This record gives sequence, C-alpha cells and structure tokens, in this order.
Amino acid sequence: MVHLGPKPPQHRKGTFTDVSPELLKKLAVLEKEFTVDGATLRKIVDHFITELDKGLSKTGGNIPMIPGWVMEYPTGEETGDYLAIDLGGTNLRVVLVKLLGGRKFDTTQSKFALPEHMRLAKSEELWAFIAECLKKFVEEVFPEGCKEVLPLGFTFSYPASQDRINEGVLQRWTKGWAIEGVEGKDVVPMLQEAIKKVDVPIEVVALINDTTGTLVASRYTDPEAKLGLIFGTGVNGAYYDIVKDIPKLEGKLEDDIPIESPMTINCEYGAFDNELVVLPRTKYDIQIDEESPRPGQQSFEKMNSGYYLGEILRIVLLDLAENEKIIFKDQDLSKLKKPYILDTSFPARIEEDPFENLSDVAELFQDVLGIQTTIPERKVIRRIAELIGERSARLSVCGIAAICKKRGYKTAHCAADGSVYEKYPDFKIRAAKSLRDIFEWPDDLKEDPIVIVPAEDGSGVGAAVIAALTEKRLKEGKSVGLKA
Ligand code: GLC
Repeated sequence: MVHLGPKPPQHRKGTFTDVSPELLKKLAVLEKEFTVDGATLRKIVDHFITELDKGLSKTGGNIPMIPGWVMEYPTGEETGDYLAIDLGGTNLRVVLVKLLGGRKFDTTQSKFALPEHMRLAKSEELWAFIAECLKKFVEEVFPEGCKEVLPLGFTFSYPASQDRINEGVLQRWTKGWAIEGVEGKDVVPMLQEAIKKVDVPIEVVALINDTTGTLVASRYTDPEAKLGLIFGTGVNGAYYDIVKDIPKLEGKLEDDIPIESPMTINCEYGAFDNELVVLPRTKYDIQIDEESPRPGQQSFEKMNSGYYLGEILRIVLLDLAENEKIIFKDQDLSKLKKPYILDTSFPARIEEDPFENLSDVAELFQDVLGIQTTIPERKVIRRIAELIGERSARLSVCGIAAICKKRGYKTAHCAADGSVYEKYPDFKIRAAKSLRDIFEWPDDLKEDPIVIVPAEDGSGVGAAVIAALTEKRLKEGKSVGLKA
C-alpha cells in the first residue's frame, strides 16, 4: 500500500547489548505495559462510540458532549472586526481578527504569560488579570480610542456547560487548574464585570471551547474540515452533530431551531472511560491519577495529553531508581522527586537527540535534574520516552476514529492544533499509523481517507467567526440557546 500520509517512524531502538540484564528485563515489562496494539485500539474505539452516544442521551455519561450553539457552517464570507481571547494552559492570548470574506482574514495579537500562581489563585484575580490585558491590548491597537463596542469571542478551554452561546458554567477545572469560586458558576458575567471595571467597550458575545473554535476556523477555510481537535496540555475534540440526533435537547429548543439544524458538540472526551472499562492503565497512570487534584476524572487525558507526558516519564524513572535500584546509582534524586518538574518538552527533547551516545540527553539530565547518566541508562531512558510518546499518539486518535465512525464519515479532514501535535517528535506519523491500524483500510487505497491536518487558528479566527455567526443570528431574531 502506498501511503501519501506521513511515513512510519525510523527504528530508533538502537542496540541494547551494553544494558544490564536486570534493566533489560524491566524494559521488556515496560514495553509490554505501554504498547497498545491494533486490537486494543479497536476495542477502545468501540467503547468510545458507546460513550459518545451516552453523553448525548438524556441520562448522560462520562463524556459531557456539550452543545456549543454554533448552528451554521461558516461560508467563508463572514466579515467584520472581532476581538478574541484564549485562556489556555500557559498563556492568555488576545487577538483582533478582521474577517475579510473570501475565506480570508487578518489578525493582530499579543500574548500575556499567565503567572504560575494563577492556576491556584482567587477567582477575582484571574478575571482582573484578563481585563487588564484586554485594556492594554485595546489601547495599543486603537490608540485614538475605539468608537464602537467590540464583540468578543472568549475561548475557554475547560468543560463548561452552555444553555446558550454567551454562557459557560464551569463543570470542573482540568489540566491542573484549581481556582476557587469558579466551578459551578457562569464565567461570562465574571469576565464582563471585570471588563466593566477597567472601562473598555467590549461585550462578550460568545463563549467557545478551543476545539469548537478549531473546527469552525478550519471550516471557514476548508469545507472538508469535519473535526476540530486539540492535542496539547489537554486532549479533546469537537464536531457538528444534527439536532435530531441529540436526545438530550429534545423538547428543550425554541421552534425556530429546526431538528435538521447542525449543532457543534464539544465532546470533552478527556473524560472518556472514567469508569475504567477499557483503558489499559499502568501502575504509573494510577499513581498520576491518585496524586492529581482531581482523582477519577479525565482518565483518558491523563494517559496521553501534554500536561502529563513528562510526569509519566518522571515517575517511571523514579520507580527504576528508587524502588528497583537499577538506574542512577549513588545519584542525588531530590530533583527527580519533585512532581511535574519535567514538562512535555523533556521527553520530546530526549526523543530528538540525534547523537549516537545521546549526549543531549546527558546534558538535559545534568542541567534539569542534576543527575549524571551512563550511556546504557540513556538508551533505556530514550526507549521509555518513545514508549510514552507512542502510546500518547495511539490513544489520542481513538477519539477521532470514534467520531468518524459514529457520524459515518468515510473521508474527513481532522483539523488539529496544540503543542503535542505541533512539537512532539513523530506525533503526526504515529497518529496517522494508528488510524490505519484502527480502520484497516484496504491495501489498494492511494491515500488515507481520514487524515489529520493542521488547523487554522481556532481561538482567534474561530472565535471571531463564531462571534460573527452569533451576531447574525441575533440580528435575525433567532435563538442562540435553550428555551427560556
Ligand atoms: C481539557 C479541557 C477541554 C479542552 C482540552 C484541550 O480537556 O477540559 O475543554 O478542550 O483540555 O485544551
């Protein structure tokens, strides 16, 4: 079969002849535990479809399947000036988007680093910080002041229930956030209030999940875009369903929303299999979950998203060093014992080391952890990083396969964004290979029918397009949420 998609990864295992028998034995165990074969992937996908359906049912399930109230496909002809903000895992991004029509746009943006303590700060502090950043940005891009109220699309990448488009009741924080006083509340009025205090003419018209933004932005430029995906600090996906296929909306919609209307769904599938029916968890995954601020939640995300990959590596290495005593003999392990000291760039850089003696890895361990490594240790470390990276990619695509199967998509562009997709070595190649393992496409196909493609900027352009579609609906007197 000739694949035009990304090629399979190079075999990088190298020789392990200088590795001690006890370490080799342990590596074989890890290989087994972290490898997810094609049959297991297909089993996971089957269960995933059941869980997607459950999430849309009246009784609900693990996966929230939140209607996003975007009820049109963008045409690419939307126009106007819109503000967009994106409260992501590490940055606050503020964007001015000029939609030009003809599938074109212009953007001007600023990024503000979120201070580390913000993840655990007080609610007012967070909203005040965002409002101040907005004020700075607006003063910069409109030095003469702005005459009209600027409509703002707010990308909020956490599970938020929405009874209408300009609302988002935070169900629970994910990705290590735990700001008090926000869970269970609508974040839109909190932000709007803080904006009022700094006195800038901005109205929050839409609250958007990053996956929904990615979907709509990509659809603005590519009519084949059927899924919006994030493989980053968290993992999640969005797609267009049809109102009549969403049982939990039955009887709750205004008459002007026809049952044939499309409706974006923010799956929030990081919560897939919280009941632990099919996920092949290792003892390390169990430890990550137990030591997280929210045990029992986001079980799928904890095995494959960027927030956790470095941490998984850390606890595997600590296990080998401290419990098994087969690596890092006589080394100071104090830094390695610090939770979350290794972010995702750490395993990524290990995998990227181009040198035969893995000298980049040696430097990395010395600099970040104060640990001196031997060559055999580095070979084993590299292999473990590969196992974690490979498992992440293989699990990540199960959500794609499940949505495509559920909606009956035989072909699709799955628009993806996020740090893991963008930067983690071989992620794209491994993900494409995993889709082939799941779908078992016939050998005579020239191209993979379902492909992951780079997304357009969801939290900028996507948020703007959604704000534009919402304004249009409101002008036409159409509803943008549940029956009052
Ligand atoms: C987490 C969030 C979700 C977001 C994803 C990617 O899973 O709960 O809302 O889409 O991360 O950022």
